[in-house]
Amino acid sequence: MTGTDLTTATTSAPAAIPGQATPYQGDIARYWNNEARPVNLRLGDVDGLYHHHYGIGDVDHAALGDADDSAYDKNLVEELHRLESAQAKVLLDHLGPIGRTDTLVDAGCGRGGSMVMAHQRFGCKVEGVTLSAKQADFANQRAGELGIEEHVRARVCNMLSTPFETGRAAASWNNESSMYVDLDDLFAEHSRILGVGGRYVTITGCWNPRYGQPSKWVSQINAHFECNIHSRREYLRAMADNRLVPQAVIDLTPDTLPYWELRATSPLVTGIEEAFINSYKDGSFQYVLIAADRV
Ligand SMILES: C[S@@+](CC[C@H](N)C(=O)[O-])C[C@H]1O[C@@H](n2cnc3c(N)ncnc32)[C@H](O)[C@@H]1O
Repeated sequence: MTGTDLTTATTSAPAAIPGQATPYQGDIARYWNNEARPVNLRLGDVDGLYHHHYGIGDVDHAALGDADDSAYDKNLVEELHRLESAQAKVLLDHLGPIGRTDTLVDAGCGRGGSMVMAHQRFGCKVEGVTLSAKQADFANQRAGELGIEEHVRARVCNMLSTPFETGRAAASWNNESSMYVDLDDLFAEHSRILGVGGRYVTITGCWNPRYGQPSKWVSQINAHFECNIHSRREYLRAMADNRLVPQAVIDLTPDTLPYWELRATSPLVTGIEEAFINSYKDGSFQYVLIAADRV
């Protein structure tokens, strides 16, 4: 793998969502272009890593302090952000050995927090795609502020049809972005861009086949985010059909519950907290990490 531009020489990135974007993808682009919830921006302001995903790990109650304390709200924001960055760290832990000359692909990169963390950790190049021009601009501006724009770049692009060269990525991932697409189409594209032996990682919410069907809470989450949560079984089947062999399937549900329970008490609630907490508790929904090798 090399750190050179993964884009094929014959393909340039158009300003709008490049080819084959559906009306649904136009809706999702609009959703993320208009998204400016304080829960995402205030947390990102803590240290300049902007995430659009959830947190994992134990809450540090000592760091939070007393709820009556004037510093409590600030501490709460910092704690939620710490847990969200811990989530991205666990994803990066599963990418395997990555060298400075490798190139990684973040599919559905949001405002780029995971990309920056990946570059800071591995020193490599990271290419991100998002449907949202606002997110791509934000991520690129942030990379510029950090002086890493030669290494970290976001572009507006449908992750099902990327301009990246076949077989050149050392690793790729979806961090809470796979519920917007058909999994066969998604994994076919990851399988195409990854070199043989490359690593694919997803962290995602999925419905639990043991529950039977998507629960009312899962339906509520789908409606809230305009997405289509897949079952755990669908992930494993679609990977098997696309030369991605799981090496680790980790149930992060117990690790993410403390984040949700803390968030539900905060002034930054968005109204979807109850659906996450109830579905994680009744077993209908799970937060999983799946790491797979391209064979
Ligand atoms: C919940 S956000 C996650 C952002 C980021 N991965 C993170 O962890 O902060 C979902 C992201 O998926 C992107 N997305 C959804 N469907 C996509 C598609 N077909 N192609 C590219 N990006 C897509 C959205 O634009 C958004 O950036």
